[in-house]
Amino acid sequence: MSSATQDVAAPGVAAREAARRRTFAVISHPDAGKSTLTEALALHAAVISEAGAVHGKAGRRGTVSDWMEMERNRGISITSSALQFSYGDAVVNLLDTPGHADFSEDTYRVLAAVDAAVMLLDAAKGLEPQTLKLFEVCRAGKVPIITVINKWDRPGREPLELLDEIEKTIGLRPTPINWPVGIAGDFRGLLDRRTGEYVRFTRTAGGATAAPQEVLKPVEAFEREGDVWETALEESELLEASDSDHDQEGFLEELTTPVLFASAVQNFGVRQLLDALVEAAPSPAPRPSVSGERRPLDAPFSAFVFKVQAGMDTAHRDRVAFARVCSGVFERGMVVTHGSTGKPFHTKYAQSMLGRERSTLDLAYPGDVIGLVNANALRVGDSLYVDEPVEYPSIPSFAPEHFSVVRAKDVGRYKQFRRGIEQLDHEGVVQVLRSDLRGDQAPVLAAVGPMQFEVAAYRMEHEFGAAVSLEPLEYQLAMRTDPDAAPKLSRLPGAELLTRSDGQALALFVNRWRLSTVAREHPELTLEPLVGGR
Ligand code: G4P
Repeated sequence: MSSATQDVAAPGVAAREAARRRTFAVISHPDAGKSTLTEALALHAAVISEAGAVHGKAGRRGTVSDWMEMERNRGISITSSALQFSYGDAVVNLLDTPGHADFSEDTYRVLAAVDAAVMLLDAAKGLEPQTLKLFEVCRAGKVPIITVINKWDRPGREPLELLDEIEKTIGLRPTPINWPVGIAGDFRGLLDRRTGEYVRFTRTAGGATAAPQEVLKPVEAFEREGDVWETALEESELLEASDSDHDQEGFLEELTTPVLFASAVQNFGVRQLLDALVEAAPSPAPRPSVSGERRPLDAPFSAFVFKVQAGMDTAHRDRVAFARVCSGVFERGMVVTHGSTGKPFHTKYAQSMLGRERSTLDLAYPGDVIGLVNANALRVGDSLYVDEPVEYPSIPSFAPEHFSVVRAKDVGRYKQFRRGIEQLDHEGVVQVLRSDLRGDQAPVLAAVGPMQFEVAAYRMEHEFGAAVSLEPLEYQLAMRTDPDAAPKLSRLPGAELLTRSDGQALALFVNRWRLSTVAREHPELTLEPLVGGR
């Protein structure tokens, strides 16, 4: 063992490094400002390394758009990546949750690898559908949520009305950390509700640099802003009276959500978000294994794979597995055990990705994400470890909302077709559903997002040599049911029974309305939601 190795693996190092880490993701609806916020966060901090696509505006127009085009041409979705930066003494890992057209099961899986989430809302729109879906996944995974109300520089809704919507729609009690001074569209600064001080912002051209901020005492704030300050103060006092102050325990138990106001594009309120993350968000904790025991942070290295991405690099037809470190210290070159096969896995090629270029990653601690190249044997949910075996719980698969019948274009290639479908099912690229009625030649693919079908079709043709045709079905939701429901469901219009490859019977419905009618008319049928797990 070299002396360097001894240092990084010294007792207590992993726990100490874990304590200063914050690993989170942003959940939002497209256009709420996630990319802008990511860029603003990185601006406030020193970027250490990046895995996956480069974020930020310049990146979006250049590197990332090229990247997206390249991936689109190849029929492969853009999937998650991780950005690591330091902020003061803290090390922050921001995991990307792909949205937009590439919304897929991967978006959900990322949330299995974070310790907290930032729910980003557009001040004019409030809670939007994709945010709600992602919130449900966080709730199922017990991930605490910090809410950021963005675009306060633009006309939007009343702040109290937005808080009301949060409480009524998702049931979390909002506990604002700060309060906007000035209505949406006239953002002057923030009232820090803990100190009572006024943090006044100064606009910079296009938010190009971290906005300078001035901290004023309440008296000075009143002198400067007059009634606008008074209004903010009154509203904040109103909140105090209604038990809306930050409650750390409630936050960790997902009963409350700290709220911050911001303008990501102007860099207003971004530093406050970083401070809130460092102060309130939990650091990586010992992770429970399937046996229920928690593996201490200082135990030998262990991690679990939360995402596998095929063909990121045109030059190398490889597969990258992204794993979250749970315990110990990861050192590049380590030989780890792949839990599900018991075979050794060489991490010589552990890398972090910077756009299309890769840089090697040498050390990682609990909470960090490692990208393992040439990871053809690794699957989503797999555990990796050294010395002491551990098996982390599998990542749940999520309720699909898109369904398509898949057939081999050339029936002579049925063998390749069957092998490919099995493999994609196994990898969790899509879920595969079957029924006697439809037969083995025409299984139904089920996915969270339609891009997953494109990925599947691409890989079927190029990797397994079986070009496929896809025929979309009109179903929109799947419920867990009993196999005995088959005879009844097969006679009902707008519904069908299919069996997932793990044996679970699923009832598919064309819409919610049809589901409620069937549930009402057939109370004897078991129909349970799938959200957040199998
Ligand atoms: P997303 O990743 O969540 O989809 O959102 P993104 O950051 O791309 O932001 C969507 C649009 O909202 C962008 O405008 C962006 O500039 C704008 N935006 C983000 N944060 C703020 C904010 O705090 N205030 C205001 N006023 N706008 C904000 P765009 O016109 O689509 O693109 P661009 O031409 O400005 O880049």
